[in-house]
Amino acid sequence: MLNGSPLHGSLAVVTGASSGIGAATAEALAAEGADVALLARRHDRLTRLAETLNARDGGRARAYEADVTDAEAVRAAVDAAAEDGGGIDILVNNAGTGVWSPALEAELSDWHTMVEVNVNGVLNTAHAALPHLVRAAGGERGIADLVTVSSVGGRRVPGPNSNVYAATKHAVGAFTEALRQEFAPAHVRAGLVEPGIVVTELTTARRKYAPDAGSPSGYGFLQPEDVAAAVVFMVTRPRHAAVNEILVRPTEQIR
Ligand SMILES: NC(=O)c1ccc[n+]([C@@H]2O[C@H](COP(=O)([O-])OP(=O)(O)OC[C@H]3O[C@@H](n4cnc5c(N)ncnc54)[C@H](OP(=O)(O)O)[C@@H]3O)[C@@H](O)[C@H]2O)c1
Repeated sequence: MLNGSPLHGSLAVVTGASSGIGAATAEALAAEGADVALLARRHDRLTRLAETLNARDGGRARAYEADVTDAEAVRAAVDAAAEDGGGIDILVNNAGTGVWSPALEAELSDWHTMVEVNVNGVLNTAHAALPHLVRAAGGERGIADLVTVSSVGGRRVPGPNSNVYAATKHAVGAFTEALRQEFAPAHVRAGLVEPGIVVTELTTARRKYAPDAGSPSGYGFLQPEDVAAAVVFMVTRPRHAAVNEILVRPTEQIR
């Protein structure tokens, strides 16, 4: 199956690959035959995931430690991944963070961190990777992908406590659409995946206030693998078809 996969022989850089959606996406891409460059700050986690993936059939994995808010570190990691893997065909711009709280109770530093990671981190990584993606799209595969993991909160504001988180995700939505328009002729597809609530460290450990999703009885959350499947769907479309946006919510999530 792997040799027949549209991802066989490609390299995907996945940011935020040390946990949650990023780790599941790296795993799913590798299972489809892509080599994966795992990028995040927690190098031990990345190394462990790389070892796990390299023990399986599928694409090869390498770990690259970088803080996405450090533009030079990101550029060095992205260039190293391209050098090691013979180019970059796919960037999954996934690293992110979120703190939900009423504005009057918020720490200003939390707001700044969300902008730094969710916006500047995405910009730093996209800026470093785009020349590689354009080069890859002009090569044998004839296509490259830049997928940004946004959120339901990037489509519409899900509740007042999502204030700055929703603002950062709206920002990357606008940025991605501009990239889509600019790079469509070069066959670099820029797309957004917009998850509803997913069980990850972000939702279980860091959130102070759950967004009001309009379900009084609660609902089953998505698993990271559900989001990974959406990313894989996007990047395995034939060259003439671009899936620009996938919104995926838990079935019972209202907003
Ligand atoms: N969980 C949800 O309900 C949900 C819903 C919609 C959208 N999302 C989005 O999905 C993406 C992934 O989140 P997740 O839910 O999978 O949460 P997660 O398990 O907490 O994963 C976040 C990832 O981002 C990385 N990261 C955070 N800050 C970073 C930094 N400064 N530099 C490099 N990497 C950094 C973390 O790695 P290190 O800490 O090792 O650096 C980690 O790998 C985020 O963009 C989030 O906004 C999540």
